[in-house]
Amino acid sequence: MNQYLISGGQPLQGRISVGGSKNASLPLLAACLLGEGEGECILHNIPQLSDVKNMVQILESLGAKTYSDGHTITIDAKSLTGISISEDSMRQMRASNLFLGPLLARLGEARIPLPGGCRIGSRPMDQHLKGLEALGVDIQESHGYIEAKAACMRGADIYFDVPSVGATENLMMAAVAAEGTTILRNAAREPEIVDLQNMLNTMGAQIVGAGTSTIRVMGGKRLGGTSYTVVSDRIEAGTHMLAAVMTQGDLEIDNVVPEHMSPVIAKTKQCGADVSVKGSSVRVRHTGQIKPLEVKTMSYPGFPTDMQPQFMALMTLAEGTSVMTETIFENRFQHVDELRRMGAKIVIEGRSAIISGVKKLEGAFVEASDLRAGAALFLAALAAEEASVLRNIEYIFRGYENLEEKYVAVGAKVQRMI
Ligand code: UD1
Repeated sequence: MNQYLISGGQPLQGRISVGGSKNASLPLLAACLLGEGEGECILHNIPQLSDVKNMVQILESLGAKTYSDGHTITIDAKSLTGISISEDSMRQMRASNLFLGPLLARLGEARIPLPGGCRIGSRPMDQHLKGLEALGVDIQESHGYIEAKAACMRGADIYFDVPSVGATENLMMAAVAAEGTTILRNAAREPEIVDLQNMLNTMGAQIVGAGTSTIRVMGGKRLGGTSYTVVSDRIEAGTHMLAAVMTQGDLEIDNVVPEHMSPVIAKTKQCGADVSVKGSSVRVRHTGQIKPLEVKTMSYPGFPTDMQPQFMALMTLAEGTSVMTETIFENRFQHVDELRRMGAKIVIEGRSAIISGVKKLEGAFVEASDLRAGAALFLAALAAEEASVLRNIEYIFRGYENLEEKYVAVGAKVQRMI
């Protein structure tokens, strides 16, 4: 089992660069399945992550040919041989459900495992399935799998009950092949959805409205290859911003799209840090004080749930009491017990965490329960004045490329232990 030994208390200082977005790369990789015409899909700025590896393995299992060279992946999906996603793939990564829309568009058929713990029709895929049924897809549940078939899909007017990122992406990819126009209402507005629209349009699709809550897909198109560069990762950027504040450091973070980061920049400023934006760089400096915050997670452009655990780690060091309210996921407070092991004072009340700031965090053995919880504990360990051991760091590899190397380069003391 891999773990990190983190000797905290070192201020991080210098430049740090942000890679391509994980949450944009995954749907973009799935979208490559739609390339049946001329050319290959060449994706640039793809981060080297275990989730990306899993997506590429699934593409290969479906018959696509792939070639990786650093941060560029080339995919030729002209001849596909499979319609099924394996149980293992789904258990490793829920985002493998993003193949549902493109498989239906290409082959009129898809077989994917039901995400564990959820019944069809209930969370978390009901919005995906409702949308696909509106396009004319027949959906059956059998032996733990969703079996979806569509002789032909027709455009439809679809309203999402919740602005689901994955459902919006799946429907955009399916609707490209549906006859006529599909309108997606109450669609998710994340920058990753805009990235998907932009890439699909370079492949020959005709989609407008991504970034707003109404997306129109003019369907019936046969897509070809593309060469496309993935947008930078706003969650990685936000994590580095907090690393600067929590270690009393000063970081210049490059390759950022500041407009994607308004709530994170606003809350980092509000906590007392000095944040200055210049083009695609953001400089964050600790100013001697961390003020308490009130934060509520919301769909984009609200405060991202994927930054909630990291901000909670920051709040443990604030001078006063902070409140973090999680409205997107029901059970996203698993990092709380681990932060408590480091001396944090946190009480959960329903969907809110009340955090009474402490002067310093203590070193401890802590365990990541998921990707962003892992990032939060990494930050907390960097801030603690003693050594900590962070376990289950495989979660971090799902979403951060070379996090350890990046932080060591700006002054952190981190060792990987096997
Ligand atoms: C994506 C991100 C994830 C982020 C999340 C919310 C990727 C690969 N992952 O996940 O990092 O935390 O957005 O910003 O991009 N829901 C339903 N029914 C559905 C679908 C979703 O009720 O059919 C609910 C979910 O349970 C959750 C909320 O909607 O409460 C948001 O989920 P969704 O936007 O779909 O998240 P993902 O696309 O899975």
